[in-house]
Amino acid sequence: MDARAFLMNFFSFFFFFLLSLFALSFEVSKAQMVPAVFVFGDSQVDVGNNNYLPVSVAKANFPHNGIDFPTKKPTGRFCNGKNAADLIAEKLGLPSSPPYLSLSNKKDASYINGVSFASGGAGIFNSTDQVFGQAIPLPKQVENYLAVHKILMQQLGAGAEKHFAESLFAIVIGSNDLFDYFGSSDLKKKYTQQQFVDLMTSNLKAQLKRLYAFGARKFFISGVGLIGCIPAERVKNKTQECNEERNFWSDKYNQGLKAMLNGLQSELQGINYSYFDTYGIMQNVIQKPSAYGFNEIKAACCGLGDLKAKVPCVPISTYCPNRKDHVFWDLYHPTEATARIFVDALFDGTTQYSVPMNVRQLVST
Ligand SMILES: *[C@@H]1O[C@H](CO)[C@@H](O)[C@H](O)[C@H]1NC(C)=O
Ligand SMILES: *[C@@H]1O[C@H](CO)[C@@H](O)[C@H](O)[C@H]1NC(C)=O
Ligand SMILES: *[C@@H]1O[C@H](CO)[C@@H](O)[C@H](O)[C@H]1NC(C)=O
Repeated sequence: MDARAFLMNFFSFFFFFLLSLFALSFEVSKAQMVPAVFVFGDSQVDVGNNNYLPVSVAKANFPHNGIDFPTKKPTGRFCNGKNAADLIAEKLGLPSSPPYLSLSNKKDASYINGVSFASGGAGIFNSTDQVFGQAIPLPKQVENYLAVHKILMQQLGAGAEKHFAESLFAIVIGSNDLFDYFGSSDLKKKYTQQQFVDLMTSNLKAQLKRLYAFGARKFFISGVGLIGCIPAERVKNKTQECNEERNFWSDKYNQGLKAMLNGLQSELQGINYSYFDTYGIMQNVIQKPSAYGFNEIKAACCGLGDLKAKVPCVPISTYCPNRKDHVFWDLYHPTEATARIFVDALFDGTTQYSVPMNVRQLVST
């Protein structure tokens, strides 16, 4: 080998050495942007809590759920693959927060990188769980968090306050309360729709204050989506159009929620939050599906009957071969592809959908 070839080899070795050092440090800096993620909410972010509810029928721990999950197995997620909670954790460089009910009663349970309290079918109100035991309502999810808080206080001692203050508290809830109201003549007698959405906002506020009293400082809060356009609603309409009344009230609720959060910032010292306009981005996806890589916005991928929305995604149902071009996985829930579009936007997007800041900005405050 002559001197020049040696030098060339040396430099290329050195170059790749530097490159891998750089990649390594990038990995390290990418790893773990927050100490922990605590997740609250409904089936959009449930990672398996409902598997542990003995009498609940709000479950997804059977095929064809999970067919695109890394393990290719059903896990209790109401999705073909990863859901929004998994994808947020992925962005933050953390494993998905495990279901609270999979950890409790186990002495070696680790709560250190976060826990998911979310439960399919859950609402802001206790009463949204009409048949008792179907879901874990938000007030109970917060109580479960308080139990975790107590354990972590003991484990972390002086570091606990910082741990909670830097952690992300992600909350995705509200659709089930709205569906409950639409379907309940009792609730309609008791409250006007406006009173009901106001009550949702004030009850959610009370839960946020409880979380604040127990260390939470960084909140990610999702608004309610375009719930009149899910396959379960379209299938009720002769021409498969969206239910505009449902959409009107989810928009109303979201407006109240945004105003509440804006006020909360001055009420609770030292909080920051990111509100995500799920409604707005869904509207955009449905108006311009091809821009997002979709060609089916109405029908579910997995189910049976018109729009695959007459029968839910159960083992006897059929499913579409390409889950990437469908907005909806089943009659209620988005595909992983849709969840990915949401999470990309809520994490790094502009103020078009994330106010006053996106989640990347939130976790670096
Ligand atoms: C909701 O249920 C919890 C028990 O999990 C209870 O402590 C709380 O008072 C209830 N909230 C309301 C508003 O009824
Ligand atoms: C179908 O939806 C459209 C648009 O929301 C609405 O105008 C129409 O009344 C609905 N039809 C039925 C039969 O519900
Ligand atoms: C975060 O919250 C603090 C206190 O609530 C506030 O002073 C600060 O401006 C907020 N940061 C951003 C980027 O809005």
